[in-house]
Amino acid sequence: MFNFDEIVDRTKTPCEKWNKYKGADVIPAWVADMDFKSPPCVIEALQRRVAEGVFGYTDIDEETYGAILSFLKRHYNWEIQKEWLVFTHGVVSSMNVACLSVEGESVMTTTPIYPHFIKAPMHANKEVIAIAMKEENNRWTLDFEAMEEKINPTCKLFMLCNPYNPAGTVFTCKELEQLGAFCLKHDLTICSDEIHADLLLNQSTKHIPIASLSEALAKRSITLMAPSKTFNIAGLQASFAVIPDVELRKRFKKTMGSMVGGINLLGITALKAAYLGGDAWLGELRTYLAENLALVQAFVNRNPKLKLLDQEATFLAWIDATALHVKSPYEFFLQHGVGLSDGGPFGNAQYVRLNFGTQRTVLKAILERMQKAVDSL
Ligand SMILES: Cc1ncc(COP(=O)(O)O)c(C=O)c1O
Repeated sequence: MFNFDEIVDRTKTPCEKWNKYKGADVIPAWVADMDFKSPPCVIEALQRRVAEGVFGYTDIDEETYGAILSFLKRHYNWEIQKEWLVFTHGVVSSMNVACLSVEGESVMTTTPIYPHFIKAPMHANKEVIAIAMKEENNRWTLDFEAMEEKINPTCKLFMLCNPYNPAGTVFTCKELEQLGAFCLKHDLTICSDEIHADLLLNQSTKHIPIASLSEALAKRSITLMAPSKTFNIAGLQASFAVIPDVELRKRFKKTMGSMVGGINLLGITALKAAYLGGDAWLGELRTYLAENLALVQAFVNRNPKLKLLDQEATFLAWIDATALHVKSPYEFFLQHGVGLSDGGPFGNAQYVRLNFGTQRTVLKAILERMQKAVDSL
C-alpha cells in the first residue's frame, strides 16, 4: 500500500505549480504535475545514482532499452524494436521536431487542446487546421466529417493527443482505426502524443497506441511517450519517440541535430526504475485518481451550471463553466482562492481545467472553495 494521502509541502522547493501563487491564499490546481511523491523504487534509484557523484554525459544501457520494451509490451501489448527509439528531453520539443521533420505547409489537429499542439506547427511556419472536438454519448470525440471537409493537399501531418488533454478521452480501437484510415487516405504522417497513456481511470478502458494497429500505420507514425506524468517526474525531463520507419526516424534525428538535447541522466535513471518496478504503485495511483475524479464529478453534479463529460484518463478535469455567466471562470475561481488552468489558451475561455492529482484533503479544500464561489453568484 502506498500512501497517496501523505501531504508533501511543495512550497519548500522552487516548484512551478505552488510558486505561482506563493504568499497568496490560493490553492494551485493548474499545471499538469501531481503533488505525490514518486514511487519509492524511483527515489531509491536516484539516490543510488547521485551517490556515485559523477554526472558526465550518459549513454542508454541495454537494461533501459529492455525496461521500455517490456513496459510497452506489458501495458499495451505493443512490441517495438529498440532501434525505433529516439530519446529526447521532452515531449513538447519532440512535437516541434515532428512538425519540422514532416513536409507540407499545414498540420491538422483538434481543439480545444494542450496549447503546444497549436504552437508547434506555428513554430515550423505551418498553418494549423484545427478541428473542433464534438460531444457524443457524453464524451468528447473526433469529428470525421469536419476533418474530411477541411483537409487539403498541403496538409501532411495529423497531430493526435491520446489520451486527450484537456478532455480526458481515451480513443477506442474503432475511432483510431477510422483516424488511421483517414491518415492513409490523405497520406498523412501521424504524430501521436501518448504522454498520458498510463493514467487510465477506468479498469475496462485500454490505451491503444495508434501505431500498434497495423504495419501501415506504424510506418507513418511518430509516437511520443514518457514516464513523466505517470510517475510524477516531469522535472527530470525524460521522454522518447517511437518511430518505426527508418526514413522518418532519420529525418526526425536530423532535425533534432545538435539543437535538441537528448535525455537527462537522472531522467533516464528514473525512467528505468519506474518501468521496471513501478507497476504496483501505478495501479494504486490509478485507483486513487479515480476516487478523486468521483469527488470532482459529484461536485459538478451538485452544480447544474457546471458540466463535465466522461473523463476516461488523466488527472485533469475539463469543466464547462459557460452557464455561470461570468466573464472569465478562471479569474472568478481565482478570486475565490483556487488557481485552475484558464481554458482560453486551450481554445475555450469559458472552461477551466482542474488538476485533481493531489491529496484528497487538498482536493476537498479546492472543491469547497469552488462551491463557495458558485454559491456566491
Ligand atoms: C499532452 C501533453 N503533452 C506534452 C506535455 C509536456 O511534455 P514534456 O514536459 O515532456 O515536454 C504535457 C504536459 O502537460 C501534456 O499534457
